[in-house]
Order: sequence, then structure tokens, then C-alpha cells
Amino acid sequence: MRLVALVLGGLIGVASASDQPASQPAKQYRIGFSQCNSGEPWRAQMDADVRAQAALHPEIKLTAKDASNDRARQMAQVKEFIAAKVDAIIISPLDTSLTPVVAEAFDAGIPVIVLDRKVEGDKYTTFIGADNRVIGAEVGKWVVASLAGKGNVVELKGLSSSTPAAERSEPFRAAIKDTQIKIVYDADMEWLKDKAREKMQAALARNPQKGSIQLVYGANDPAAIAAYEVAKDAGREKEMLFVGVDALPNEGVEAVKKGILNATFQYPNGAAEAIQTCLNTFAGKPAPKSITLGTRLFTRDNADKGGEPVGPQPGAAQGGK
Ligand code: FRU
Repeated sequence: MRLVALVLGGLIGVASASDQPASQPAKQYRIGFSQCNSGEPWRAQMDADVRAQAALHPEIKLTAKDASNDRARQMAQVKEFIAAKVDAIIISPLDTSLTPVVAEAFDAGIPVIVLDRKVEGDKYTTFIGADNRVIGAEVGKWVVASLAGKGNVVELKGLSSSTPAAERSEPFRAAIKDTQIKIVYDADMEWLKDKAREKMQAALARNPQKGSIQLVYGANDPAAIAAYEVAKDAGREKEMLFVGVDALPNEGVEAVKKGILNATFQYPNGAAEAIQTCLNTFAGKPAPKSITLGTRLFTRDNADKGGEPVGPQPGAAQGGK
């Protein structure tokens, strides 16, 4: 009897808040972050920003993984996070093949924040990214104005199985449709600078005449910069304009300031919004289905002033898809 009372007393004692040591940490939240390829400058920046944002909140324990452009590896990373029952997953998926594993995490009750490239369907918590259709349309407007509605263009497109590829291309093509601007060569450069270099060599080989290409649209800055470098090696860089997307300060914007690119459109990575969305879900607040980020145009004229906003500048949460 006495023993039971002692044991009970002990148990109650352990359970009572007043006996908790003062240094007891507040609740920790584990976030698993899967990046499709940290080897690209824009993604290296996203990684750094996600880490920096997470570090502002001591209650967050971040585990970041790099899938090195390997679908199977990225799927395995998400499965590991599901098995570990993390409190939230942030994923920037390689392409739409990550849809089933994202759905699996969502169905397991884990909040899943998808950054930049989309998955199919609606089995995720929140999608965060700039509107690539707006960017494609703004590129189109800029190209039509810069070429005065006439000229031959090379289009180096992103990885076709990833959503930003068509989203950056279709509105661009719609914008040049009723002009005398023609696409004389296009190819999938898979978002990779080395691939873009090969494709640009092919573009020049197909259009060997000097003056036969007026502009190159690279769907990201690495591609646009690669195109410039290839054209320069061939002594043809002066005959064409180069436009890209991303506008990292130390990549695209620097290239604009150096006169390598004529324009670049900013593609914010959504790191801060992703960590904030995780915190909101931990606090039991509802998460919007999508958060759309704005874009800015950088040219030689405005780069020193931080570019200028173009297209809608939502930055605000929207319901639905
Ligand atoms: C990096 C990247 C960026 C681009 C984005 C599109 O992998 O290619 O340069 O803006 O992905 O998803």
C-alpha cells in the first residue's frame, strides 16, 4: 500500500509542470527539406535562404537533403521524412514525377509545402512560387519591344517534365505570335548550363549565317549566359540579345551589369514564405493553397536601382489552385 502510494506520488510528481527543469526546451518541430538539385546556383541560394530562415526560429529542427537531380533519390528522401513522422515537409520537386510521394506524405497527415515546380492534383498543403506564366508573358512583351516586332529567336527551354518549362514558354510564344518574330531553333536544356551550351552550339550550326539570329531566350539565367558564352566563342555575340530568368544578384543581375545579358526576370525562391507557412501550420492556422510571388525586370538601365516590378505583384495568399 505504502509502496503504491509512493510510486503514484512519484508519477504525479514527474507529471506536474512545477517539477519540470527550467531549461526544458520548448516543443521542437522537425522540418524535412528535399531540394531537387543543390548544384544549381538558384537552388544553392534557396538552400541557404531556407536554412537562414529556419535558424531564426530555435524551435525548428531542419533536415535538408539534396537529391542531385535524381528522381528516385528525391522520392526516397520524402519517404524517409514520412517514416520519421516529421512535422512538415518542404519540397522543391525535380518534376511532376514526385506527385505520388508528395500525395503519400499529405495523406499521412504531414503538411507539405511545394516550392517553385508544381506537382499534379491537389494533394499538398501549399504551393509557393512566382507565376511562371506571368514571367513568360513579360519576357514576350520585352522581346517584342526590344526587337521592334521582327527577328529570329533561339529558345532554350527548361526541363519539359517540370511545370515552369511550358509555363515560361507558352505565354512567350503567344506574345510573339502576331509579329514577325520567328523561333528558328528551340531545345530542352533541362535547366542545366552544360546542356544549354550544347544546344546553343547546335543553334549556331543550324543558323550559320552571321546576323541570322537576333535574340536568345534562355528559360533560366545559366542557359542565357551559356548561350552568350557560346556565341562569343563563335564571334557572334554582338549580333544578338540575350534574356534569361532568375536574376540572382551574383549571377543574372551581375551579367546584366556586365552587358552579358540584356535582361533578366527575377524568380524569387519562396524560402521565407515556406518557413512561415510551416510555423503557421504548427500554430494551427489554416494554410492557403497557394502563395504567388511577384517578379522584377532587370536591365542595364535599372539594375543599379534593384530592377523594376512587372506584372501583378500579389505576394498575397490565394485560395484554390
Ligand atoms: C534551378 C532552376 C532555376 C529556374 C527553376 C525552374 O534548378 O532551373 O534556374 O528558375 O529551376 O524550376
